Amino acid sequence: MSAALEDSLSAALTRLLEPLGQAHLLRFWGELSTEQRQRLALQIRSIDWDTFTTLTAAEAGQQDWEQVAGQVSPPQALSLLEQANPQRLRAAVAAGEEALAEGKVGFILVAGGQGSRLGFEHPKGMFPIGPVSGRSLFQILLEHARARGLRAGVSVPVYIMTSPQTDSETRQFLQANRWFGYPEDDVRIFCQGVIPAVDRQTHQILLAEKDELFVNPDGHGGCLAALARSGLLEEMRQRGIEQLFYGQVDNPLLQVCQPALLGHHLLSGSEVTTQVVRKTDPGQRVGNVVRWQGRTQIIEYSDIPPSLAAQRNAGGELRFWAGSIAVHVFAREFLERCAAQAETLPFHRALKKVACLDGQGRRIQPAEPNAIKFERFIFDLLPHAREAIVVEVDPALGFAAVKNAPPAPAETPEWVQAAISRLHRHWLRQAGAEVSDNLPVEISPFVALDSADLMGRIRSGESFTEPLWWGPE
Ligand code: UTP
Repeated sequence: MSAALEDSLSAALTRLLEPLGQAHLLRFWGELSTEQRQRLALQIRSIDWDTFTTLTAAEAGQQDWEQVAGQVSPPQALSLLEQANPQRLRAAVAAGEEALAEGKVGFILVAGGQGSRLGFEHPKGMFPIGPVSGRSLFQILLEHARARGLRAGVSVPVYIMTSPQTDSETRQFLQANRWFGYPEDDVRIFCQGVIPAVDRQTHQILLAEKDELFVNPDGHGGCLAALARSGLLEEMRQRGIEQLFYGQVDNPLLQVCQPALLGHHLLSGSEVTTQVVRKTDPGQRVGNVVRWQGRTQIIEYSDIPPSLAAQRNAGGELRFWAGSIAVHVFAREFLERCAAQAETLPFHRALKKVACLDGQGRRIQPAEPNAIKFERFIFDLLPHAREAIVVEVDPALGFAAVKNAPPAPAETPEWVQAAISRLHRHWLRQAGAEVSDNLPVEISPFVALDSADLMGRIRSGESFTEPLWWGPE
């Protein structure tokens, strides 16, 4: 690029940024090479400035739950717990299995997060979590989806969301592992967008480098826009996919495309079905599913007023008992409708510590949160549904998320591995085996997807005393 062209580029960028109060992004322009200038210019131009200015201008997307606490009520929920309504459960399982067999179900797996709490240096999906096999989160979840499809005589297509931070490594990993047995054509990878983070006081965008803005993935809610942008929503339609089972990569107990959940969703004519667990503690770090203004909504654990979370009914149980575990089923047509409306999902703000450059170009490692990050949450789709239902599941059967590094008390790799082993020991015992307490046990989804699959496969008096990996023959 000639010097004249570079000058006119800088003038054009200044004209764009000055009225937005973001001209500081060009502060180090004079020190940059031509290549660095082009990179910075490209990044600045790729930002959706209209959306960005609405975020910093107002307290966008923030509902004051304190103010409306009196109008909020608990949700009605169906149950996947066998004893609740066996007849309805059987009908749901049959309906779910039929939809799977007809090839109407796809699986969305979101894996674009930064996994900052875990502190693993690769995409979290690559984390080896199998307590005996050491299988990664990706392997466990893809094998589960594959096994579920084989059971129904189909291949359930998987749509994996990455972010610019996880995309290329995820692709390489999955390719190197031959998509864990999946036909390549049935694994689609799509990348979510990013959004700049700003200084919490000045609302100026932070610089990660002299030629690079600090951006973060736009939240799991970014999935909606990314699916539409990538053309995958359209591809799903052409392929005859009508329902999308949504799960997060950090939960190896996820019961991928569980027929009962799909079936409850279908039998209720629901547009969004969300799986919940019964909260045991008011401060539990799960989203709180509530009814408000005739709609089902989720209040993040960080947003629920403590006095609301602590309310108990006459029997002493928590009134707001339904904790979201981020497992949903969406009707494809519902996603299409929402994707067509630009601002369906608001951005939420979170105060975070972000390493960045100061005005002199020196790197700052803040001790206190210095930045506002913006993120969209997928569960904000719930109130847009004409019909949304809530289904309760036993957490021991379907939820153990890897979030934290040791020595955190919960949701560490060790804690999650213990939950997998506990569940699989329980399956063996139900099938008649004797199993030593605390024994690491792991059963492949190609062998069993639940305890019923092991019935008749344990010899009388069989006992397990050594760590067990029961893989496919
Ligand atoms: P979390 O919000 O728990 O974030 O994501 P995280 O990235 O795993 O971990 P922290 O908060 O940085 O420690 C829940 C799920 O949503 C996905 C994650 O990959 C995870 O499966 N996610 C989150 C995205 O796909 N994109 C995002 O922008 C954020």
